Amino acid sequence: MTNKLTIPLPNDMHIHFREGILLDFAVNATAKNFHHAIAMPNLKDPITSYSKAINYYDQIQKISRFKHFEPLVTLYLTMTLMEEDIRLSAQDNRIIGAKLYPAGVTTNSEKGVSDLQACYKILELMEKYQLPLLIHGEVANKEIDIFDREKLFIDELIKITSMFPALKVIFEHISTKDAVQFIEASSINVAATITPQHMILNRNDLLSGGLKPHHYCLPVLKREEHRIAVANAAVSGNAKFFLGTDSAPHPRSQKESSCGCAGIFSAIGALEIYLQYFEAENAIDNFENFAVHNSCAFYGLKPSDKKITFEKSDYIIPAAFTIENHELIPLMADQTISWKILNEL
Ligand code: NCD
Ligand code: ZN
Repeated sequence: MTNKLTIPLPNDMHIHFREGILLDFAVNATAKNFHHAIAMPNLKDPITSYSKAINYYDQIQKISRFKHFEPLVTLYLTMTLMEEDIRLSAQDNRIIGAKLYPAGVTTNSEKGVSDLQACYKILELMEKYQLPLLIHGEVANKEIDIFDREKLFIDELIKITSMFPALKVIFEHISTKDAVQFIEASSINVAATITPQHMILNRNDLLSGGLKPHHYCLPVLKREEHRIAVANAAVSGNAKFFLGTDSAPHPRSQKESSCGCAGIFSAIGALEIYLQYFEAENAIDNFENFAVHNSCAFYGLKPSDKKITFEKSDYIIPAAFTIENHELIPLMADQTISWKILNEL
């Protein structure tokens, strides 16, 4: 039996570092164990230009206490994104792409895109300059059942990927078997990130036996058949699927509320949770590709020279973290995982 696993430092291709008092904690929770991480641009004042993206990159870089950590940032795609911002971003290796949020679909997405066809001109420029498009793939129409919003968005993705075949498109945090099938059938320019929660939890874990606000995220957890499809895609070894935690911290008071925020904090614990699942599925050999090489190959990044070692022994995910007057409750809080990270002495 394998008791230790050593791989190059992994990449988290979808994470929320936030701003203000959460920034230091969020950045360093990830920086400790990751090589690259892609910081999402949905701040209260979204990252809508090249200069804002560089400013956010500088803040992250400055606050990180880990030399091995190389953050990457994204532009927040709006209808008014300028060609110059796309050109400059595409040439700058600190900026990895532009994130498209259908307006109103999730946290701080109000300034996103309300008319997808109307931003095809922008997508054309992104294709021309080779700036990848990261997508929150859910329809924003509030009349559509929340469990169907990802599946229905696939029609838009089919249009986008056929109109702009050379554009790299990343379907973020997929949660349905329909999304898995779409990715499998698409060209090599289309890939997906997979979160730990969409691999290990289904909608009963959110709604049955009492409402669990710390399991509420978007896209919302789906039926078991979808969880199985997403988890199978992650462990399959298919290079189109890679690690993106979507760790999205919200203070406990805003999660345990009459109108709770969507987002699960998993920056601490996610690697161990993923690995435990890969082992349970007899797929430990595919973990390194999922965590490192698939994303490096897709985005044209170099794997880290620095390694991380996991050991087969119990690790209890902390019950909570306190940051000034905020508390964060992580995914699988206070639960025991059968793998732990061996930290250097
Ligand atoms: C994210 C957040 O809180 O910023 N929330 C979430 O449920 N995943 C936004 C997002 O990625 O949808
Ligand atoms: Zn996210």
